[in-house]
Amino acid sequence: MSNDDMILKAEGVYKSYRMGPAEVRVLKGVDLAVKKGEFVAIVGASGSGKSTILHILGALDRPDKGVVRFEGRDLSGFGAGELNRFRNRMVGFVFQFYHLLDELNVLENVVLPAMVSATVVGWLGNRKRAKKRAGELLEELGLGERQRHKPYQLSGGERQRVAIGRALMNEPKVLLADEPTGNLDSVTGNGILDVLERLNGRGQTIVMVTHDERIARRASRTITLADGKMR
Ligand SMILES: Nc1ncnc2c1ncn2[C@@H]1O[C@H](COP(=O)(O)OP(=O)(O)OP(=O)(O)O)[C@@H](O)[C@H]1O
Ligand SMILES: [Mg+2]
Repeated sequence: MSNDDMILKAEGVYKSYRMGPAEVRVLKGVDLAVKKGEFVAIVGASGSGKSTILHILGALDRPDKGVVRFEGRDLSGFGAGELNRFRNRMVGFVFQFYHLLDELNVLENVVLPAMVSATVVGWLGNRKRAKKRAGELLEELGLGERQRHKPYQLSGGERQRVAIGRALMNEPKVLLADEPTGNLDSVTGNGILDVLERLNGRGQTIVMVTHDERIARRASRTITLADGKMR
């Protein structure tokens, strides 16, 4: 595969955490390449470093050693503004526990990333368009009737769909999902996987982390993280 097809790439990534005198070596030379349009699952035991590598791929954390490339460009060369732009617009995050804001309603939660990335003047001009897009996303996710509800009034599956809507708001090139079904029963979890499959069918690149092989099977490719490396 040529470098051009690769949207996200990790090369020899190392990461350790220092806990007092002890050092936990989590990633020991992870290589990984995600092609545009792929739906990749990263599986591994609890504590194997799945969340760690996902955070590094999304620039929420940085490697001790090694390189992460987005569309061929080394993330370590990004300035602060460019990094913020990357985190806010190029990737979208979905977490196991949703991380929605209970003070905001469903629509406002989904609109939030557009607000964050806009200037004040830009936001005033774009507010209507952003709300329209958020409404359409929620409609698609089967939450058209729930826009004015608060997150705590929704079920787990509904909350995760809101979180997916929020992650998609700025049309990210890659969706990064960390155990997106981890807090849901299997039927509801399958509903979330259906949503991810549908998005991938329309070209959305997805990297999903899970400890569950059965869930990973819904992706088009599975890679296993063990002993700090990709097998
Ligand atoms: N901020 C931190 N400080 C210290 N140790 C950490 C930190 N973050 C993670 N670790 C340790 O790094 C290892 C890998 O953690 P990580 O969260 O990436 O695992 P995981 O594969 O996502 O596990 P799970 O399936 O339980 O979510 C664990 O041993 C964890 O305790
Ligand atoms: Mg984790």
